Amino acid sequence: MFSRFFRKSIPCNDSDFSRFIVRDEQIICPVKPTVLIRGCQFNSNHYRNEFFGKIMGVCSARLRTRRMERQAEFIAGRYLASRMLLEKGIDNKHVGRGCHGEPLWPLGFTGSISHTSNQVVCALACKSDIRYLGLDIEPTLTSPLAGEIEGLVINPDEKALAIDNGILPAQLVSMAFSAKESLFKAVSHEAGTGFGFDSARVVGFHGTGLTLELSTGISSSLPKGRRFDCFVGQHRECILTLIAE
Ligand SMILES: CC(C)(COP(=O)(O)OP(=O)(O)OC[C@H]1O[C@@H](n2cnc3c(N)ncnc32)[C@H](O)[C@@H]1OP(=O)(O)O)[C@@H](O)C(=O)NCCC(=O)NCCS
Repeated sequence: MFSRFFRKSIPCNDSDFSRFIVRDEQIICPVKPTVLIRGCQFNSNHYRNEFFGKIMGVCSARLRTRRMERQAEFIAGRYLASRMLLEKGIDNKHVGRGCHGEPLWPLGFTGSISHTSNQVVCALACKSDIRYLGLDIEPTLTSPLAGEIEGLVINPDEKALAIDNGILPAQLVSMAFSAKESLFKAVSHEAGTGFGFDSARVVGFHGTGLTLELSTGISSSLPKGRRFDCFVGQHRECILTLIAE
């Protein structure tokens, strides 16, 4: 069911970070070529406090008090984002953190970040090309866990649609969970915090993923019934979903 993202390794010449950032690669989404996507694997055992200041300057001082694993995933995401911005000619800009946890991108750009315990992915695009951008990576859910959260993530109509399309309920829960989180990140600047799993539903499947439809209106540009195509792919052992419109 999953589409493929193509991967290309990028040499990591940054000796300061070389033990922390263990692999750095470009991820190519075949249907969204204008979105730059990068992923890296990181090892939080090699995270060092000084990385925070190097990447963030004095920003987000509150995060410095969080446990080391959280600081490591946060800094791995910001490291990736700053390298991607540098590629676009933007130097010395911190990607800050807004009051709802959203990344704050430099003027003219939009992006999205997601991590697991040892991987981080980041998507970046020009605001003039893409208005809604959301990316999410999740380890594939095991059947028992998918069963436990099924009622939270999907409704009976979505489940019936999946079965009609030959998709197992556990597979749908994994995909829908990630796709809805991607959608939340894509629209949160207009939706605020009141967006839950029941704010959108899966209404179809296509060659590269699935279609989500808003169950309630969010704003004049995001009315009830607005549809978003979500690319669903496999990245290493995880599901990676992308919304970019
Ligand atoms: C934001 C949220 C979706 C993150 O999901 P997650 O699987 O726990 O974690 P991920 O690693 O995929 O994503 C975390 C990143 O999302 C980004 N993020 C957080 N809040 C965000 C927001 N309001 N808008 C856009 N991006 C946001 C951040 O970059 C964050 O990483 P960072 O803090 O290191 O920068 C989730 O924690 C959340 O806040 N949910 C509330 C709303 C909800 O549950 N909706 C149901 C899904 S529809």
